[in-house]
Amino acid sequence: MEKSYSIAIDGPSASGKSTVAKIIANKLNFIYVDTGAMYRAFTYAVLKAGLDPKDEKASESLIGKIEISFNEKNHITLDGVDISKEVRSNEVADNVSYIASYKNIRLFLVDSQRKIASNKNVVMDGRDIGTYVLSNADLKIYQIASAEERANRRYKENIEKGIKSSYEDCLDNVNKRDYIDSHRSFCPLHPADDSIEINTTHMTIDEVVNEILKIAKERGIY
Ligand code: DC
Repeated sequence: MEKSYSIAIDGPSASGKSTVAKIIANKLNFIYVDTGAMYRAFTYAVLKAGLDPKDEKASESLIGKIEISFNEKNHITLDGVDISKEVRSNEVADNVSYIASYKNIRLFLVDSQRKIASNKNVVMDGRDIGTYVLSNADLKIYQIASAEERANRRYKENIEKGIKSSYEDCLDNVNKRDYIDSHRSFCPLHPADDSIEINTTHMTIDEVVNEILKIAKERGIY
């Protein structure tokens, strides 16, 4: 069988991972997998079922009962329904870090992520892709940016998408998620030893994309 390639892009919330990962996947004709959307979809399912996302046992009760997937447009779906807009709500953003800290829910979603990636060329973005999900990835990028810059980017993105929020709300959310994501006991956010760090605070999207493509080319990924 022909070798398939994987590129892992990890880093804190709103560091521009998904924008960059999508462009790279497009250019290389790889499949783009947004794992954050899967944690958001689980959170949405918990809220929709009237369960408390801070209650681990109650949240876990949905494992195996819901199907989280991507449709032909690569939009996130819950039981076949496109929920790509719903997963971007403030309510989901405020609760997703609790859900992402529960080990059994992570194992359930990691299993799907590995299945999606098996024998395919993928660009996968998240928090634990290089350290855990695809620990043998051909290229591991750890993308960072200052909290203020990330809050600013998220704020602008919300305006473009018609989602109501303030810069202060975005900064609070970025700081809160940074803390929870990097302090959970199972698969906390941290760079893989063999990852390459890119600080995007003062870089344009094109510059980040070109930097990653340059390294991918050097490694023979394309
Ligand atoms: O990338 P994002 O903002 O859509 O991610 C939403 C949340 O999901 C984020 O707070 C951390 C969590 N997450 C995770 O724990 N592991 C991943 N591989 C991806 C996201």
